[in-house]
Amino acid sequence: IAIDGPAASGKGVVSKLLAAELGFHCLDSGAVYRAVALAAIRQNAAKPAIVAQIARELAQNPQKLQELLNHPELSNPQTGQRASEIAAMPELRAELLPLQRARRQPPGLVADGRDMGTIVFPDAQMKVFLTAKPERRAQRRLLQLQQKGISATIDSVRAELRARDLRDQGRKHAALTPATAARIVESDDKSPAQIVRELSAEFRAALFCPNNRAPNRATKEPPL
Ligand code: CDP
Repeated sequence: IAIDGPAASGKGVVSKLLAAELGFHCLDSGAVYRAVALAAIRQNAAKPAIVAQIARELAQNPQKLQELLNHPELSNPQTGQRASEIAAMPELRAELLPLQRARRQPPGLVADGRDMGTIVFPDAQMKVFLTAKPERRAQRRLLQLQQKGISATIDSVRAELRARDLRDQGRKHAALTPATAARIVESDDKSPAQIVRELSAEFRAALFCPNNRAPNRATKEPPL
């Protein structure tokens, strides 16, 4: 199941809950980009070849990668900005592809990010584009940051999300856009639990009745 969408749209919490509901694995691909960003900041790395090399080394060193994924600075707005900058590098994206694809293991995977349904798992059984109005997303992210003890203001969060969304949407490679056939879910007025209920019901229905996934099938069948 591929769940894509703009910053702070609720992808993380929905993906984790949906994975728990279905007993699936979970991949937070944004956290991987953030981990590489943290390492790149530490090493003052700017050139795409060097950033890609950092990613290659992290892919071969799961313990080091896990350390970065657990790092308190992973959620900082500065780390998110740097992640968005390096995420525009095709060299880095190519380096991270096998790492992400290797997470697809039985019984299944819920993966969230920007290009899960378009590039990383184009054959996903279910594709979702989760979004919400910018103001709602900014309020949510401010709350998340405050809960983690990271200081921010609504203005700074609004500006950070806007800058990141513009960069993510405008980049040449793996730009943020709904995959073909993605189900667009507006999360403004829905709780994560409600969204998970809807998605898991739809996924189960599609899984057990494959014809449900091909609404125009009937029109292709010969007339009686
Ligand atoms: O949590 P939030 O939505 O704010 O961001 P994130 O998922 O942690 O991703 C941080 C940044 O990584 C994004 O702004 C993207 O630029 C980049 N990213 C990406 O390019 N492709 C992905 N599959 C996931 C994240």
